[in-house]
Amino acid sequence: MEGASLPEGHRSISIGHRFVITLESSHRQRTVDKRANWLGNICYNFDQPLMPNLSRFTNNDLPDHFAHQIRDFIRIHWYDAFQYDIHALTISDELAPVYFVVAEEPALFSHAAAVTRSVECNGQTYSCGGLSAVLTYPAFRKRGYASQVVQAATEHLNTGSFDVALLWTTPERERFYGRFGWEHHPAIRTLKGSQASPEVYDDFAMIRFLSERAQKHQVDFETHPVYVGPYSW
Ligand SMILES: CC(C)(COP(=O)(O)OP(=O)(O)OC[C@H]1O[C@@H](n2cnc3c(N)ncnc32)[C@H](O)[C@@H]1OP(=O)(O)O)[C@@H](O)C(=O)NCCC(=O)NCCS
Repeated sequence: MEGASLPEGHRSISIGHRFVITLESSHRQRTVDKRANWLGNICYNFDQPLMPNLSRFTNNDLPDHFAHQIRDFIRIHWYDAFQYDIHALTISDELAPVYFVVAEEPALFSHAAAVTRSVECNGQTYSCGGLSAVLTYPAFRKRGYASQVVQAATEHLNTGSFDVALLWTTPERERFYGRFGWEHHPAIRTLKGSQASPEVYDDFAMIRFLSERAQKHQVDFETHPVYVGPYSW
């Protein structure tokens, strides 16, 4: 920020070589160690261009610091939807998760996970690739990072010999996922929970029919509920 103009009454402090904190002058006497207690305006600027990389990991090689950042975001943002084992750092091995990450070490900017599941529809079982936990930390949004991880995860699902791929989102994001080939079929209803008495999962489902078999049975998906198992993703 050297040389850049700040709003009147503000000054900047460099933290490492990357971040600059802009402070109101009334806080000048306080030390950086006390910054968590400040109630005044603190904003982060980036004093060098960001150069993040897109990487892909499995449970075997996902670095712990990325696992923590993914999980911490999920625990805050989707605190009411995800019921995780609080001791598990990653998605269960059973779901063969593949994590797509845009990061500039050690900071994770954006993430999407692809998981392996199965779904049932009209008495048939289909292998299903799930797209899960698409997120970008707020400071890094609208720079195309989620697009990168969703594109990479969608390509992974396309080539993974799945019958279908499924995600849930909100109607406002239909256009975003639509850019990568995901479609919303209003007639499709998803169920989750115990198979004996499943509950309707009425979030906005988007699907891709990948195998010939699934394409042939698309009408089943539109006329019968799709049971996704005890929990969604
Ligand atoms: C949804 C979310 C993942 C998007 O992350 P993001 O990194 O901002 O996504 P992108 O930058 O790839 O795209 C977001 C928008 O910015 C636009 N964009 C991309 N690069 C841009 C740029 N350089 N300048 C301006 N806009 C840009 C994209 O076109 C897209 O527009 P759209 O919303 O009209 O489709 C992020 O907002 C988030 O984490 N939200 C909270 C969690 C959540 O809801 N996740 C989705 C669960 S389904």
